Amino acid sequence: MIYILDTANLQEIKRAYEYYPMEGVTTNPSIISKEKENFIKRLKDIRKIIGKESMLHAQVLAVTAEEMINEAKYIVNEIGGNIYIKIPVTPEGIKAIKILSKDGVKITATAIFTAQQALIASKAGADFVAPYVNRIDNISGNGVEVVGDIVELLELNNLTTKVLAASFKNVQQVNEVSLRGCQSVTVGSDIMDKLIEHALTELSVKQFINDWKNAYNKTTVL
Ligand code: G3P
Repeated sequence: MIYILDTANLQEIKRAYEYYPMEGVTTNPSIISKEKENFIKRLKDIRKIIGKESMLHAQVLAVTAEEMINEAKYIVNEIGGNIYIKIPVTPEGIKAIKILSKDGVKITATAIFTAQQALIASKAGADFVAPYVNRIDNISGNGVEVVGDIVELLELNNLTTKVLAASFKNVQQVNEVSLRGCQSVTVGSDIMDKLIEHALTELSVKQFINDWKNAYNKTTVL
């Protein structure tokens, strides 16, 4: 499993990279807009925190293939390092994915709601496909099942594209896509914290300290 952070907030990124085994950051135009800062400056600041090796996924805003390609090349040149360009799976997006992937640009196909959208994006050359789990659940679909279908279809077609499940609102959704063979997830920092927190773990630690203190009258093994 590859854990990625779905935010452009610098404090959240710093903290998650300090505490957890993070391997990348994903953004989209909505996430960037929340920070109310210049797009390229924010991406550069994120790059400074996560380093050149860590994945940074940044999305185009254009709607025609030609403009998407221009934006993609601009972002790649400005940001560098391990950069992935996110492109929505519209027909124009698929056309752009075909052209950019042939040019060696790494692509994350995004805004995916069906397994066939993911399969077509993969065939077009996407490195990652990003199904929106919670948004699928919210239209009375089953986001986890769609992720499972995508994993299966990519395997059946011998495709090396990875599934980067996105749009999570709870820990259970993350756990279920993990069990279905999803290779990577992108989550908000709140979900990342919740994946590791457990009241009984905290209680166990308190008990260890109490027992030690009663026996040795100190709170360290040193
Ligand atoms: O990475 C895609 C994700 O940001 C969409 O999530 O929470 O807006 O549905 P959400």
